[in-house]
Amino acid sequence: MKTIAVILSLLQVWLVVAMPTCRLEGHLVQLAHDLLQNLGENISVHCLPYNANMSFPESVLTGANKSSLQCHKALWVVSESLRGAAQIMEDSIPFGEGGEPWNKNTFSDFQNLQYQILDQGQCLTYKDTTGVLASYFTNMTTIIQQEDIAFCGWMALRRDLLRVLKSTLQKHDTCFTWRD
Ligand SMILES: *[C@@H]1O[C@H](CO)[C@@H](O)[C@H](O)[C@H]1NC(C)=O
Ligand SMILES: *[C@@H]1O[C@H](CO)[C@@H](O)[C@H](O)[C@H]1NC(C)=O
Ligand SMILES: *[C@@H]1O[C@H](CO)[C@@H](O)[C@H](O)[C@H]1NC(C)=O
Ligand SMILES: *[C@@H]1O[C@H](CO)[C@@H](O)[C@H](O)[C@H]1NC(C)=O
Repeated sequence: MKTIAVILSLLQVWLVVAMPTCRLEGHLVQLAHDLLQNLGENISVHCLPYNANMSFPESVLTGANKSSLQCHKALWVVSESLRGAAQIMEDSIPFGEGGEPWNKNTFSDFQNLQYQILDQGQCLTYKDTTGVLASYFTNMTTIIQQEDIAFCGWMALRRDLLRVLKSTLQKHDTCFTWRD
């Protein structure tokens, strides 16, 4: 029994030491943020009635404080948000209130970055016991599948991704790796 306990505690130390090596490159995330800022439009007043179905769960941006898991969690939220968005974007093409699709070249550059970041983030595992992020993406998918209000979903998705990327880059900048 004692041996098992020792092995388990060694494993725990190893996990904590090993986890911070799973990182995302800050400049890629910053670039994805900047491209997204140039894509699409700000949320329209016509989308107000759907607000309840399009509210990003703020709780995922807080929590997991002070522990060695903080960086891991923060980077996971970035990766998981981009993954959820990528899944929606695979099935539908984003467009604005007037029906105009997002700029093709900028969107394609954004998607390339998105996949690069997701590739780096593959090692970021975290058990979201609340399931709020999954629930958010289910809600967003439902909105975007409704042709007449899909633009609201794209506007909200853009708004929320910008917030996730910006706030994580600001609050947890040391969690990212930065090129010299
Ligand atoms: C869109 O929203 C951002 C952030 O709230 C703001 O800085 C920007 O000026 C807005 N753009 C327009 C065209 O309203
Ligand atoms: C995390 O820390 C911030 C300040 O550093 C504090 O305001 C917030 O309540 C903390 N959240 C949790 C879940 O402990
Ligand atoms: C999803 O939509 C339902 C119905 O409006 C809402 O109660 C729930 O809070 C939404 N989930 C999230 C994570 O926003
Ligand atoms: C909002 O969410 C609720 C509960 O999930 C659902 O019944 C309703 O149809 C949704 N509204 C829209 C506009 O998608």
